[in-house]
Amino acid sequence: MGGIVGYIGTDNAVDVIISSLRKMEYRGYDSAGITILNDDLVTYKTAGKISELEKIIPAGFNGHIGIGHTRGATHGKPETKNAHPHLSSNIAVVHNGIIENYMRLKEKLIEQGYEFLSDTDTEVIAHLLHRTMKDNEACSLIDAVRHIMTKIEGSYAIAVLCTDEPDHIVLARKDSPLIIGLGDKNYFAASDVTAFLRYTKNAVYINDMELVQISPGGVEFYNNDGQRIEKQIEVIEWNEEAAEKAGYEHFMLKEIHEQPTSIQDTYAGRISELEGRVILDELKMDEDQLRNLQRVTIIACGTSWNAGCVGKYLFENLAGIHTDVETASEFRYADPVLCGQIFTLAITQSGETADTLAAVKSTKAYGCSSAAITNVVGSTITRETDSVFFTRAGPEIGVAATKSFTAQLIVLYLIAIHMGTVRGRLTPQTTRDILVGIKQLPGQVQRILNNKDVIKKCAEHYANVQDYFFIGRHLNYPVSLEGALKLKEISYIHAEGYAAGEIKHGPLALISSETPVVAIATKGHTYDKVLSNIKEIKARSAEVIVVANESDNEISKYVDRVLRIPDCHELLSPVLSAVVLQLLAYYTALARGCSIDKPRNLAKSVTVE
Ligand code: AGP
Repeated sequence: MGGIVGYIGTDNAVDVIISSLRKMEYRGYDSAGITILNDDLVTYKTAGKISELEKIIPAGFNGHIGIGHTRGATHGKPETKNAHPHLSSNIAVVHNGIIENYMRLKEKLIEQGYEFLSDTDTEVIAHLLHRTMKDNEACSLIDAVRHIMTKIEGSYAIAVLCTDEPDHIVLARKDSPLIIGLGDKNYFAASDVTAFLRYTKNAVYINDMELVQISPGGVEFYNNDGQRIEKQIEVIEWNEEAAEKAGYEHFMLKEIHEQPTSIQDTYAGRISELEGRVILDELKMDEDQLRNLQRVTIIACGTSWNAGCVGKYLFENLAGIHTDVETASEFRYADPVLCGQIFTLAITQSGETADTLAAVKSTKAYGCSSAAITNVVGSTITRETDSVFFTRAGPEIGVAATKSFTAQLIVLYLIAIHMGTVRGRLTPQTTRDILVGIKQLPGQVQRILNNKDVIKKCAEHYANVQDYFFIGRHLNYPVSLEGALKLKEISYIHAEGYAAGEIKHGPLALISSETPVVAIATKGHTYDKVLSNIKEIKARSAEVIVVANESDNEISKYVDRVLRIPDCHELLSPVLSAVVLQLLAYYTALARGCSIDKPRNLAKSVTVE
């Protein structure tokens, strides 16, 4: 994550760029930088927030053309050398996205004599542009950008300055947002419309593989073949607060809708489809250590704990490692039996949950290899474990965890596959099938989002009940726990998640026509068993809502409502089912008029015991 800004106009570019970056700090805030093009490129950048950047910019520093960046680290630690803009001689670049093939490009550029000053993927863009313009002196900046777009793979929104063309900013995008703002003799570019909304409400949304050239006289748009194109100007009606929610009524709904992107961002650069393997540079364990592992102990709270429970099935199924999932608040006071052959894995969106931090600290004396999965760069947990895996979900503002949960699942798949491969447990075919399946998830989540009206109607129909049950087996058991947690925290309806086979050991006594039951009945080896549980429940007159695959034509005979997910690999269905249950909770809370983003009594990050 991160955000880019570009500005050409009559105002002080430093002030405009800094104020625009502030609006995008939510996209990442571990380092920031700015380049102003006067006669030369003058760059200031630093680790830390925008406020740190402001401190190092000398008073009176001014200009009318510039680019800026706020960063949420993906490649390279949050250090000053990795902050953008990145330079190659007379070229400066800011970039939002991930260049997946940067290692190969970097090796070639080093052979050609380029010196790299950062650990980022972005620096290859600056050097590639320089190389292109040096090789062909007639090449314009925009042609050079178009040329390198054929070389770089991955996602990007870039803004480029070059002293050879001191009147231009050139921009391009693929799979990362880029919006142009059109003011009166003032032109803006940003990753998010909120960045320039205080200056202009006229915006142009750039599509994939389109390029833009901004000059003091105006803005030109080009397609990938170099032809000028016309773009429609949209007048943004939102105020700044609504814009931060991108027009959604709540942050939670926005964050649910961001999942196609957050899932993709989380696996980007970590899957080599060519080799059919996972690349986890972050894991600080060698292959021998992985082979000798006796156990994985997952430590987490709340939704992160539910993700950990899915992880248990993954580590056991894919890597053949016994796995325990510990509630951090209990584990910190337990008498754990740990040793050096145990891998402790903390999962925490915020990286600041007090119980999780304390539980992780309590394992230190045992010499276990430790790792954390977190969404927040620079959070406390990142200093407490040997390895850190970042989910790249972007800031999650709604108290109810949504996109962070599915991103945590993605990282868990990747770690489990990596361990399974090293431990000789997975065939190349199985690995490939799951990796291909993971890459299909963003599109499949989008399909669920496109059909959300069915879920909304269902939520509204049951919005006034007092109690809900959620059931599932195997991987779908923790999904049912997560569905119940989501519903109770934002709609205040009492909801319980249960292992479907356990219903008859007590809860069945509570089942009646007043208690709808959500059964996660996706295709898999426990499908028939869940079907039997559904029949037991129907016999007690309860209404049953199932989450089922699109190709399941049978299930509707036995239940009251069916909420569909696309067909997928059995192990991957929790990602899709979770999205359905998030929407069910959201629309239930909406129908009940609840405070969705800030539910009563809850905080986003529980930093006290
Ligand atoms: C989930 O919707 C909750 N807000 C809560 O359970 C949360 O997952 C829990 O507090 C753990 O937070 P963490 O992931 O930041 O550690």
